[in-house]
Amino acid sequence: MHLFLDTANLDEIAEIANWGVLDGITTNPSLVSKEKKDFKKLVKDICKIVSGPVSAEVVAEDMEGMLTEGRDIATWAENVVVKVPLTPAGLGACSKLAKDNIKVNVTLCFSVNQALMAARAGAYFVSPFVGRLDDINEDGCALVEQIAEMFHIQSLETRVLAASIRTPMHVQRSALGGADACTMPYSVFKMLVKHPLTDSGMAKFLADWKQAKEVVAP
Ligand code: E4P
Repeated sequence: MHLFLDTANLDEIAEIANWGVLDGITTNPSLVSKEKKDFKKLVKDICKIVSGPVSAEVVAEDMEGMLTEGRDIATWAENVVVKVPLTPAGLGACSKLAKDNIKVNVTLCFSVNQALMAARAGAYFVSPFVGRLDDINEDGCALVEQIAEMFHIQSLETRVLAASIRTPMHVQRSALGGADACTMPYSVFKMLVKHPLTDSGMAKFLADWKQAKEVVAP
């Protein structure tokens, strides 16, 4: 499962990119607004740091508007992916963009049937929103598993991109549930690497080394 950061913050992206495990980025209008920067320049700057897929979302609500924005966004960088919402207009835009060989991430997916429609519209990614389903007392990770299974049964090539991730357990369950990629906030990405036994193990190794230093590495 590929690991994506769900942010438009260049510092966060640069830091995690240095770890060598960052496969892509997702942004959305809320995340971009927080940065208070020119959208196009910001996406181009992100694409310079990360060579994997970088999703940038349209804000038009009608199909023609989404197509105009999507075709423009697709010219910003080689690795940019156009993000459209899972609405009738979004599906229409997705199918037309896909026919032009533009990669599309269909976002705001909350059901297996929605994911099926995104796949039939030629989506490159479909993004089930795990955390927002958990918020309304549903099991978001179960949806990721069901979509992955359905795509397998139906031989659909659209990739499952688990989104709206809030906890490391969401990441683990997405990986075990067959997601192709998982996009998470910076805070969750940082938690993935942490384990108290790694920290205490390191401290013990270094303390022992320091004590025996005169003998083992004089
Ligand atoms: C996905 O691409 C979205 O940007 C994102 O995961 C939304 O997550 P949220 O529910 O934390 O806003």
